[in-house]
Amino acid sequence: MQRHGGPPPMLVQLSDPHIVAPGRRLLDRVDTPSLLAQAVTSVAALQPQPAAVVLTGDLVDRGTAEEYDHLRSLLAPLPGPVWLMPGNHDDAAVMREVFADHDELQPVGGDPALAGHVLWVRQTAGLRVVALDTVVPRASHGQLCPARLGWLARTLADEPDTPTVLAMHHPPFTTGIGHMDAIGLRAGVPELAALLQRHPQVERVICGHLHRPITRRFGGTLAMTVPSTAHQIVLDLAPDAPPAWRLEPPGYAVHAWLDGALVSHVVALGDHGPVGLY
Ligand SMILES: [Fe+2]
Ligand SMILES: [Fe+2]
Repeated sequence: MQRHGGPPPMLVQLSDPHIVAPGRRLLDRVDTPSLLAQAVTSVAALQPQPAAVVLTGDLVDRGTAEEYDHLRSLLAPLPGPVWLMPGNHDDAAVMREVFADHDELQPVGGDPALAGHVLWVRQTAGLRVVALDTVVPRASHGQLCPARLGWLARTLADEPDTPTVLAMHHPPFTTGIGHMDAIGLRAGVPELAALLQRHPQVERVICGHLHRPITRRFGGTLAMTVPSTAHQIVLDLAPDAPPAWRLEPPGYAVHAWLDGALVSHVVALGDHGPVGLY
């Protein structure tokens, strides 16, 4: 994908909105719907407009139809295509019912072992976006089973020359935040690293789950997590760090294709006062 003097094609990544039913608050005090609405307003005002928006999991908190209905109304103002994938707080079956018009959520054919997983490939402005489901039903940690790794291997082999972004909920690396690493990706990580080494077209692995921005080299490419649009996990690298969160500024990522590479920006949401000019 080349740039021809115009603005770079942009992919927006929103993550971990943890939407609750109308009138409720998460953890007794986080107004996750209002925080997602703030993110949606910010994305809708971006110039240029993004080519697509991808949500990397934990879309709602309890996986109920009421929560997904609420999410649907909150996402409605977003421009262009919006692509969804589950995290450990989601229920893929309920998500598929409420978002029945989202083609990317349709089960992939072939291997019956893949039917319960959300796996998709979308293309926008020459950039290929591949969603790899890391969810273990009714568990907080993630894994990559042989069936999912096989699907990814076939998918990447289909277009070895197209710049690709791989989206996953659980990041494929240890972060140093112990209570989150305890519910990290437990199986399939070395296999994924070896697969990505063979596919240098993968420009970035974009993840959620950690509720804060973290980057690491992985499998010959760069893997990163992004802030939640709601609450953030406290940065504490002590081995016995308690499972703590707080309302640090929420945010999202803008991945722009620029001069033959993917440039990833993290945007902090909130009222930061007027813009100044140098
Ligand atoms: Fe989350
Ligand atoms: Fe998660």
